[in-house]
Amino acid sequence: MRTFLTRSIAAVSAVALLTLSAACSNEREGATGATTGGSTSAAKGFPADSLIGVALPSKTSENWVLAGDLFTDGLKAAGFKSDVQYAGASTTVADQQAQISAMVTKGAKVIVIGATDAAQLSTQVAQAKQSGATVIAYDRLITNTPDVDYYIAFDNFKVGQLQGQALLDGMKAKKATGPWTIELFSGSPDDNNAGVFFNGAMDVLKPLIDKGEVVVGSGQQDVKQTAIQGWKAEGAQQRMDSLLTSTYDSGKTLDGVLSPNDTLARAIITSVKGAGKPIPIVTGQDSEVESVKSIVAGEQYSTINKDTRELVAETVNMVKALQGGGAPEINDTKSYDNGAKVVPAYLLPPIIVTKDNAAEAYANDPKLSPLTK
Ligand code: GAL
Repeated sequence: MRTFLTRSIAAVSAVALLTLSAACSNEREGATGATTGGSTSAAKGFPADSLIGVALPSKTSENWVLAGDLFTDGLKAAGFKSDVQYAGASTTVADQQAQISAMVTKGAKVIVIGATDAAQLSTQVAQAKQSGATVIAYDRLITNTPDVDYYIAFDNFKVGQLQGQALLDGMKAKKATGPWTIELFSGSPDDNNAGVFFNGAMDVLKPLIDKGEVVVGSGQQDVKQTAIQGWKAEGAQQRMDSLLTSTYDSGKTLDGVLSPNDTLARAIITSVKGAGKPIPIVTGQDSEVESVKSIVAGEQYSTINKDTRELVAETVNMVKALQGGGAPEINDTKSYDNGAKVVPAYLLPPIIVTKDNAAEAYANDPKLSPLTK
């Protein structure tokens, strides 16, 4: 089971070679066999009908919208009381900080957090720990604090590797030999995942860029140059508009675009279409309804399936284990150094989806499966 975790150390060291922003430098660097440190405490158990807090970021993609309802239902079904909150659209950090403090005040026994800004929650998670609550980072790591007990997510580095490989596969299927010209996009710099996705993709792409087989047309290949603040579609569309003007106006062909998620992928495609240019190979993530339709229609090339139902169910399992006084199941104790400790993690395997395997990939998803018929 879960053999996907057996990754090569070579891939890990390749990541360390990349130029990273401080916010992103905490991924895969703990692969030295470091033991888990910090304040993770032995669970003592708590009453079966306790309050569980869930603080989610703003609704930047469909997976987050879905997560809220799944947590409300899943925690109720498990016998807990729940307080599920989203950060607002604009004052996201302050909203989330206040929501977590309120959960502590209300006596939540576990606080599950999908961080809106990875580095801005140390005060609140310290409060949570002092109150005796367990802190679980959900989907996105919380950085620079020892007060995170567990991390649960789909394997983010693997997501990036799958995206990088899909980009290459798609371009090769259209044009058998290179060089291929691409552009790179990454997610919001305050989301720890954004750098990890990018590093995973560059683990696949960088060797080919170094050999000249893949060319970044604009030359913008540092994660900082490619970032889209807040995962906002408008930001991606604007950046693509300006790349098309600066680099592709004279008729140069753009073969592919690395997009970190579906929201940005569709914005990139809108920009290219608006400029009257052929749609390049565009990657994505999250299996959003409109992107699955686009893939089936032959526009967006790929997405990633990270089944939110599974991730929430596993998180609820963690809460149940804590309630009973046991230790939740962990399958990674080295990848997620948050700058203060290596956070014990439970990672699930992401799945790459293209037109070829969409029907199979979504066979058990009542919302997406009809779109593939
Ligand atoms: C990430 C998450 C992605 C995507 C993105 C935008 O943290 O892992 O799946 O949803 O946020 O909201």
